[in-house]
Amino acid sequence: MIRADNLFKTFNRGTPLENPVLRGLSLTLENGQFVTVIGSNGAGKSTFLNAISGDITPDSGRLFIDGADVTRLNAWQRAGSVARVFQDPLAGTCEGLTIEENLALALQRGQRRGLGRAVRPSDRALFRDRLATLKLGLENRLGDRMGLLSGGQRQAVSLLMASLQPSKVLLLDEHTAALDPKTASFVMALTDTIVRENGLTALMVTHSMRQALDHGDRTVMLHQGRVVLDVAGEERARLDVPDLLHLFERTRGEQLDDDALLLG
Ligand SMILES: Nc1ncnc2c1ncn2[C@@H]1O[C@H](COP(=O)(O)OP(=O)(O)OP(=O)(O)O)[C@@H](O)[C@H]1O
Ligand SMILES: [Mg+2]
Repeated sequence: MIRADNLFKTFNRGTPLENPVLRGLSLTLENGQFVTVIGSNGAGKSTFLNAISGDITPDSGRLFIDGADVTRLNAWQRAGSVARVFQDPLAGTCEGLTIEENLALALQRGQRRGLGRAVRPSDRALFRDRLATLKLGLENRLGDRMGLLSGGQRQAVSLLMASLQPSKVLLLDEHTAALDPKTASFVMALTDTIVRENGLTALMVTHSMRQALDHGDRTVMLHQGRVVLDVAGEERARLDVPDLLHLFERTRGEQLDDDALLLG
């Protein structure tokens, strides 16, 4: 379970660049829930994910993962329970290391000891098996540098890396945005499988309304650092892309100074 409770974050406080990005963001995800997150540029989506991963610390508010208060834990301390895949295929892996070295690092994520890129033969067999499930032929390229892979191949490996440790939480930040449509749907199908098979609690940021409705089981919209739409179940099933776009445009055109805007 993830529980974000009234998160506030202002960047560059006290300077002319002061930017209040999270403004009382609250959201609770049950275990195994897969939530898609939409919202315009600057709405605070990535900042919210950064707060969950521990890459930023909120100014106030609290964050719980599985009931434990992680608000003051840094990213390293949360690494055992939180995995991430970024928009930029270069961001989630080390391009100078081989595929198997990257997987070995992922296997050790969140563990204090033994961090290194040496690959044990037993792990190599595991990597080969897991890579084979991607059907990209990568199981025969364990020794290739990550930098040689295409964007789609890298995102697929990043997702695989996210599933090597028994993480509880998977954060996806526009992870198909840099991919062509065919590769994007391959990576999305893989995402669905990995989330389901590992029982992950997942948050996926996307600018695609179609993706937001077709994947996961709940959709939230962020606007000016708060949740302004939260739909699931029947209500969500009834929404189509034009409906969501309409809500999106309506929200974007208005300033959020009162709760009258809270939808859903
Ligand atoms: N570490 C930081 N330091 C200063 N400002 C930041 C930092 N991180 C984000 N911001 C600012 O916070 C605001 C919200 O950024 P955020 O990345 O959360 O938006 P987003 O909803 O993910 O937008 P996009 O759809 O463009 O990815 C932006 O104005 C951004 O410049
Ligand atoms: Mg972002």
